[in-house]
Amino acid sequence: MLKASLALDPHLVVADVHRRTFGSFVEHMGRCVYTGIFEPEHAAADDDGHRADVLQLTRELGVSMVRYPGGNFVSGYRWEDGVGPVDQRPTRLDAAWYSLETNAHGIGEFVSWARKAGVEVNYAVNLGTRGVQEALDVLEYANHPHGTYWSDLRVAHGHREPFDIRLWCLGNEMDGPWQTGHKTAHEYGRLAAETARAMRQIQPELELVACGSSGSGMPTFGAWEATVLEEAYDQIDLISAHAYYDEATAGDLGSFLASAMDMEAVIERVVATVDRVGARRGERRRVDLSFDEWNVWYQGDLEVPREWSRAPRVAEDVYDLVDAIVVGSLLITLLRNSDRVSAACQAQLVNALGILRTEPGGPAWRQASFHPFAQASRFARGRVLHAEPVSPMYDTVQYGPAPLVHAVATHDPESDEVTIFAVNRHQREDVALTIETRGFPDHRFVERFVLDGDLRACNTQQQPERVVPRRVDAAEPVPGGLQIALAPVSWNVIRLGPRAVG
Ligand code: AHR
Repeated sequence: MLKASLALDPHLVVADVHRRTFGSFVEHMGRCVYTGIFEPEHAAADDDGHRADVLQLTRELGVSMVRYPGGNFVSGYRWEDGVGPVDQRPTRLDAAWYSLETNAHGIGEFVSWARKAGVEVNYAVNLGTRGVQEALDVLEYANHPHGTYWSDLRVAHGHREPFDIRLWCLGNEMDGPWQTGHKTAHEYGRLAAETARAMRQIQPELELVACGSSGSGMPTFGAWEATVLEEAYDQIDLISAHAYYDEATAGDLGSFLASAMDMEAVIERVVATVDRVGARRGERRRVDLSFDEWNVWYQGDLEVPREWSRAPRVAEDVYDLVDAIVVGSLLITLLRNSDRVSAACQAQLVNALGILRTEPGGPAWRQASFHPFAQASRFARGRVLHAEPVSPMYDTVQYGPAPLVHAVATHDPESDEVTIFAVNRHQREDVALTIETRGFPDHRFVERFVLDGDLRACNTQQQPERVVPRRVDAAEPVPGGLQIALAPVSWNVIRLGPRAVG
């Protein structure tokens, strides 16, 4: 049998696990908002029109923070269209997704939804068609207590308490020619710096995310970040990165399963660029990454409707087991890089590219990729450990040699629990993973979960529970640790604790 090992040491710490790593994204795209989180006519809708079934699944998913309202959508959005009496809100053309935007759902509704879901709001301002003033207006509406034009309007709209939004995105993917109001790096860098400076004059403690390049395949990748940071380094806290992967673009299954290698390289390159600019400028403060769009997305299949309609079906990819394993592996990479990636948003929450699916007037269900996310959010606690698997390699067309076992371990000093998240990328064979627990001599195996089986199995409205993790109670004790057989193409969660529980 193929063999790999992973040595655990509580003293070798990468960084704390950031709760913001488990962020998601709600964009006015397709049916993410309308008939996704919001469907007043639905039997499960609450008094605000939010679907209680989606809220419940969002809580179960363990999402910590949600970016809103876009995405490409935000670059042509007028936030004030979405506040006040609903019957007076204008319907507009949304050029990003060729949709009619009724504005029935706006910032106030979103903040109410986020509170019910127990998630932090990450709000994006429009720096495509708009600028500094509109960003200041929405900040005043959202966060100022009362006694000014915009804050009093918020109170008049029924939101007495300020929204207290701390994390703000300064636009979206501004290097993309598809972006409404697309800019050069210099133009955007200046605008981001001035917007940030003005927002901080109102509220210095805000955390601000500048747009990095929209992808590593962009001709602007790297140079964009460098120019933007030269303009805005001292005004921002985070710079964004975006990455989507799919099997068709990867070209073969082996490469697709190794998609996290690309994400790892993206992080490495953006960090190198950030630090180079920081060093050149003599900055003491570090800028970290917000990986605020990542997922599997079959972009080649994307058909944007060519007739104006409300909440059309856009994307709505159905994710299979392989996609779920890749999502798990991408999460492993985000966790492994917790020293520099302090926020991330799986894109998106529901429908569109969602980890959840709904039918209008019908049920809501978990896509296959729901499970690695939910388990990582639930069990990755405390600190990320430096635990590098020693693994056999395999050849990939896209990335050359890739490790068969991709893993990360976390240790929660409070509960003393250790969790290992591991993916086996081998398509046919088990890999025997030895977990060396000498650093945790009093720890015992608690439980493990495995997501494996038919690679093409999906969860659908008819079969919503086809892909679910199974619990396994056994691990083989070996000298210095324990051994687990990782099934081919599988996601594994292995939990150790100071004593056996459950
Ligand atoms: O998440 C879908 C789209 O992907 C977003 O609107 C955009 O930012 C990215 O290109």
